[in-house]
Amino acid sequence: MSFLQQRPRRLRTTPAMRRLTAETRLAPAELILPAFVREGLSEPNPISSMPGVVQHTTDTLKRAAAEAVELGLGGLMLFGIPEVRDAEGTASLDPEGVLNKAIRDVRAEVGDDLVIMSDVCLDEFTDHGHCGVLDADGYVDNDRTVEIYAQMAVAQAEAGAHMLGPSGMMDGQIAAIRAALDDAGHVNTSVVAYAAKYASAFYGPFREAVDSQLKGDRRTYQMDAGNRREALREVELDLAEGADIVMVKPAMSYLDIVADVAAMSPVPVAAYQISGEYAMIEAAAANGWIDRRAAITESVLGIRRAGADMVLTYWAAELAGWLKE
Ligand code: PBG
Repeated sequence: MSFLQQRPRRLRTTPAMRRLTAETRLAPAELILPAFVREGLSEPNPISSMPGVVQHTTDTLKRAAAEAVELGLGGLMLFGIPEVRDAEGTASLDPEGVLNKAIRDVRAEVGDDLVIMSDVCLDEFTDHGHCGVLDADGYVDNDRTVEIYAQMAVAQAEAGAHMLGPSGMMDGQIAAIRAALDDAGHVNTSVVAYAAKYASAFYGPFREAVDSQLKGDRRTYQMDAGNRREALREVELDLAEGADIVMVKPAMSYLDIVADVAAMSPVPVAAYQISGEYAMIEAAAANGWIDRRAAITESVLGIRRAGADMVLTYWAAELAGWLKE
């Protein structure tokens, strides 16, 4: 005779039962694919620390965008790698610069079938690799940087981006970008604020992906790994400044932050599963230490379960393909 009334295992007995009672599901529409485009390339260039990810040519980027539409992805987040860099990152403002041109090309390719997002940050464009311009002491000058971000934002909106992603963690960047967009008539260009972005060792492979010139670190602008309360302050500021979506980054070592932000945010919450998180799973899988597909799926599911409404992940296209099987 059974003595148990409560048997949670009843709901796990068959795949159909587990499917019925799943609390979190994944769908292509909530996945955003970050993509790199490099000026002057004739062939896509593999990124060795991110196996399977490349620096795109214009052509391969357009193809990736068309594929993203077919897969039903939510969006693309574009990063540009210019041929020439300088202290002020001036190539970021050139309408013919690599990122602005890529936005225009992708928009011409996919129209409104995908949310086209672009990185508003100077680190890819400066010869010192910092996310802003430097003052005489080598400190990243907040207010001068924000002025440039505002101009970058208008240039990207003019190129056709639907949503801008300021990732530089300057104070007041959302308000400045919002005001500049509105003044230029781009009232419907939205902003996904990298609100709680931590100074992380897991950005390592991204530095290779964008040929970053950075020496040193970003600790005077990105957050310290141990700070939890401060994330809410950053999110509240970005909301007050007009953020349409708020993001937590990285994702996997910051799931408590994702959950905190999800609990208080009146706007959608994004999380960015970054280059180092990608590289770790790829490396373990390549060694036969974990089941690649199961680990990828579980990692993204965990980020969604923590409360993220959408996830930026380098596996977006592959994962969406699996979800359609
Ligand atoms: C800054 C930016 C970075 C990433 C996205 N935007 C690099 C950094 O802050 O050091 C990292 C993304 C990743 O690691 O996948 N423009």
